[in-house]
Amino acid sequence: TVSLPVYTQEEVMKHCSLDKGIWVTYNGDVYDITDFVAIHPGGNRILLAAGGALEPFWSLYAVHRQEHVQEILSGYKVGVL
Ligand code: HEM
Repeated sequence: TVSLPVYTQEEVMKHCSLDKGIWVTYNGDVYDITDFVAIHPGGNRILLAAGGALEPFWSLYAVHRQEHVQEILSGYKVGVL
């Protein structure tokens, strides 16, 4: 198995615009969700999490607590913290 790169929180924070790419963290993993932003069923609200953690938002919007949402997210994994 190939191990994914390790990123710092600081590196993730830099990716908070469509220009630089939109990265988020979840459960210690790093995701590049740039290509998902335009197809997010919840619209532009997803940008609130840009460069940071998904957890506070996903505990607010329980719609994400489903297997199929986890599967979508896992497709965008690019590294670990
Ligand atoms: C809905 C994915 C981040 C707010 C959804 C749905 C998916 C999804 C698949 C539809 C779920 C369903 O109806 O079965 C994601 C992914 C995210 C993300 C992969 C991050 C990578 C966020 C964030 C927020 C948010 C950060 C809020 C700040 C919402 C809301 C809905 C929604 C409000 C409900 C939309 C509606 O049904 O009208 N999201 N989401 N999402 N999301 Fe997200």
